[in-house]
Amino acid sequence: MIVVANREPYIHEYVDGAIVVKRPASGLVTAVEPVMRACSGTWIAHGSGSADRATVDREDRVPVPPGEDAYLLRRIWLTDAEEQGYYYGFANEGMWPLCHVAHVRPVFRESDWQHYRAINQRFADAVVREARSDNPVILVQDYHFALLPAMIRERLPKATILTFWHIPWPNPESFGICPWRREILQGLLGSTILGFHTRFHCKNFIETVDRYLEARIEHEHSTITHGDKETFIESYPISIEWPSPATVAAWPSVTVCRQQVFGRFGLSADHCLGLGVDRFDYTKGILERLHAVERMLEKYPQWVGRFTFVQVAAPTRSALEEYRTFQQRIDGLSKRINERYGSGSYQPIRLLAEHHSHEALNRLYRAADVCVVTSLHDGMNLVCKEFVAARDDDLGVLILSRFAGAAREMAEALIVNPYHVEETADALHRALTMPVAEQRERMASLRVTVREFNVFRWAGRMLADAGRWRLRERIEARVQRHKDL
Ligand code: G6P
Repeated sequence: MIVVANREPYIHEYVDGAIVVKRPASGLVTAVEPVMRACSGTWIAHGSGSADRATVDREDRVPVPPGEDAYLLRRIWLTDAEEQGYYYGFANEGMWPLCHVAHVRPVFRESDWQHYRAINQRFADAVVREARSDNPVILVQDYHFALLPAMIRERLPKATILTFWHIPWPNPESFGICPWRREILQGLLGSTILGFHTRFHCKNFIETVDRYLEARIEHEHSTITHGDKETFIESYPISIEWPSPATVAAWPSVTVCRQQVFGRFGLSADHCLGLGVDRFDYTKGILERLHAVERMLEKYPQWVGRFTFVQVAAPTRSALEEYRTFQQRIDGLSKRINERYGSGSYQPIRLLAEHHSHEALNRLYRAADVCVVTSLHDGMNLVCKEFVAARDDDLGVLILSRFAGAAREMAEALIVNPYHVEETADALHRALTMPVAEQRERMASLRVTVREFNVFRWAGRMLADAGRWRLRERIEARVQRHKDL
């Protein structure tokens, strides 16, 4: 199996002259990495770490996870100009805001598009080189590679190409502003199966094709035929790897986690802790969330001095002006709220704008009374699922944006419209005053959902569909040969 994703699951960096391995903050990596560990094969990605070149063999490959060597990571090198055009430019200033419709204007530059095309071609060439048969199974990941499926199809016509779009797909009007909308749609229709998180995103995609391409759409079977190629459009809600009993047994207890985290922030035992964990991204609704915390302190003053909100914000795409300005706004807002409601050592907002390890996040999840996910628009969001997986004590409350794909599966959370600050402020108060019995009931039910619909179910459903598709194609080819005789 070959996975293509821009972000690599293991990044080698030089830190004080020594090489360290980092795990990136990426929902995609969180989800797809366990699948690769289980299935083995090759993951092709941009080698972005400062020590990445020093750790590969002559074919630019390195076995991962370090020490386990379960699969191969094949690195592709980009120049600064290529990374600027393909990754920062077209992918993150064009496609990202285009698909999230997050009131940030997408930017489309001709030169970024040229880089995007060229880099998609470079990854297609690498796929062809890595393929060990003429009909490999290839998993193409996300909006960095919209052109890749058709490019692979041209060279490996018998390949089974499963493309998964990890972000939302907007409605046809919103998508229509992209100058290269036809090329992008045609590129994606090179896939055998094209997956989105929700039915709603599938419907948006099918309507977009209907609007801008000549294609035959079979709503009954959810297929699109463009040229002579048929693509199956299906929803596959992504998830996380449910922690094994051995993993859970190695975790420090909830009491210990709480003591450690409360100790770190100087909080007394009867204090309440709210938690947000995100990449520092304008689609995550961090601004609206902090406004809601402020409003709660104003409306329910009994929480002043008794409630602290910890926001983990992993730095991301900071080379882009839009991200830097956003980070400054959040900094400014946190300071203002702390000046208004803080006193002595009490600061209601703790902004941790740094990368956290999985263990550190798990400790925070286990220590929190409430976890707040207020994305303005999100394909799925895996933070809410990680929080639920961390709570084997069945306690803690989840507040979840109705605009995250996860809201469709996690109805036992307190569902909010993040743009409605008053509603989120009330939800915070409700979470903090929720009786233990109700917390248990909600959390236990959420845990059943996430355990059941875990990432292996996601991958399994996609691969099973691919298997059926391959079988069908083989039978059709046989029938055709028979007819030709
Ligand atoms: C989202 C995208 C992923 C991406 C992740 C982190 O989850 O869907 O493709 O890897 O953000 O962003 P980055 O730009 O750091 O890879």
